[in-house]
Amino acid sequence: MDRHIKLTANIHYVGVNDRRTELFENLWPLPEGISYNAYLIRDRKNVLIDTVEISKTDALIREIRSVLGDRPLDYLVVNHTEPDHSGALGALLKEWPGLCIVGNKVTFRFLDGFYGEWKHKKIIEHGDTLDTGRHRLRFFSTPMIHWPETMMTFEEHEGILFSGDAFGGFKTLDASIFDDEVDLQAFDNEMRRYYTNIVGKYGKNVQRAFALLKPLPVKMIASTHGPVFRSDPEWVLSRYDRWSREETGPGVTVIFGSMYGHTEAMAEHLARALRAYGVPDVKVFDASKTHSSYILSAVWECRGVVLASPAYNNDLFPSVKNVVDKFLERKMHKRCAAVIGTATWSGGGVKQLIKRVGELGWETVGDPVEAKYSADESDLDACKRLAKAMAEKVLSG
Ligand code: FEO
Repeated sequence: MDRHIKLTANIHYVGVNDRRTELFENLWPLPEGISYNAYLIRDRKNVLIDTVEISKTDALIREIRSVLGDRPLDYLVVNHTEPDHSGALGALLKEWPGLCIVGNKVTFRFLDGFYGEWKHKKIIEHGDTLDTGRHRLRFFSTPMIHWPETMMTFEEHEGILFSGDAFGGFKTLDASIFDDEVDLQAFDNEMRRYYTNIVGKYGKNVQRAFALLKPLPVKMIASTHGPVFRSDPEWVLSRYDRWSREETGPGVTVIFGSMYGHTEAMAEHLARALRAYGVPDVKVFDASKTHSSYILSAVWECRGVVLASPAYNNDLFPSVKNVVDKFLERKMHKRCAAVIGTATWSGGGVKQLIKRVGELGWETVGDPVEAKYSADESDLDACKRLAKAMAEKVLSG
């Protein structure tokens, strides 16, 4: 058995799994880890496509050495400069001092800023090519997926698209790197969570890239995180297409914050009523318990959102505020929202939610319900009416 993992006879996977890091970008939980994918093209000129996070440098160099032996590494293509893919750069240059770095003008602005200037570099423009012997690489500028310098590299003879972060996802590659050998369904939620939180703000740029890549005879998609799609690239393309258009289904996400259970009781009541009125997909999240990245990921595919907050210092409950701020940061659109909550000696939660829904440009469904202290029968009836209005709205499309 060849111990190397190959995409084709001369294109090797030299990436790594990271099962130790708790938070990606020191923000996003990684309960199932993540992979940093890098690829090595063995040819007359040897080319590495992207590197790995700095803590995994030794593993990367070992793997490249085991493929190349004493032969030089000639080029490094930097599709994306974020340090989870450029962190090994300094060590690679010590190992192969003649290594020429390939990127666009913005790539080098960022690399120079992070690491200092480079002796050997090749500045490419959109559409340029690099011949390495039996392979030819064509470079496509795809800015803001999800940084300004991001680009993709297409290997023309094998039809492999090295796509950078696009088409990637959280979760390690267990036992295999290929879509037909890993448990792809296990990647579905983690890919959507990755997309919505890392790339989601830039859906228009993803759509622009789709138009750009459409004429290419892509046979394989090799991203910097997650599986290599060699059997069914359409699996990931169709998802990214849907997510980048923010296509929503007839579901409702109920998001609540609650100190002592009063707002939670209203949210539970409304959620059950939604199901009773025929909404097929109702998800309920305690914003203080579930990390916002999971909530955002759920909302991405739902037409309806119910926001529930008590008053806290005359304002929104902090954990609900955190989630709503994420919606605003990503300029999420095409949702309808209902607002409920509680007040004690003062209000503030419901008032602020109404304001935020307006700022988001979301359609308000029904009349907001604000219970004093805790919901009585008339408040619960009002929640039920709200559920009916929301169900009619999301089921009508
Ligand atoms: Fe995987 Fe934008 O870094």
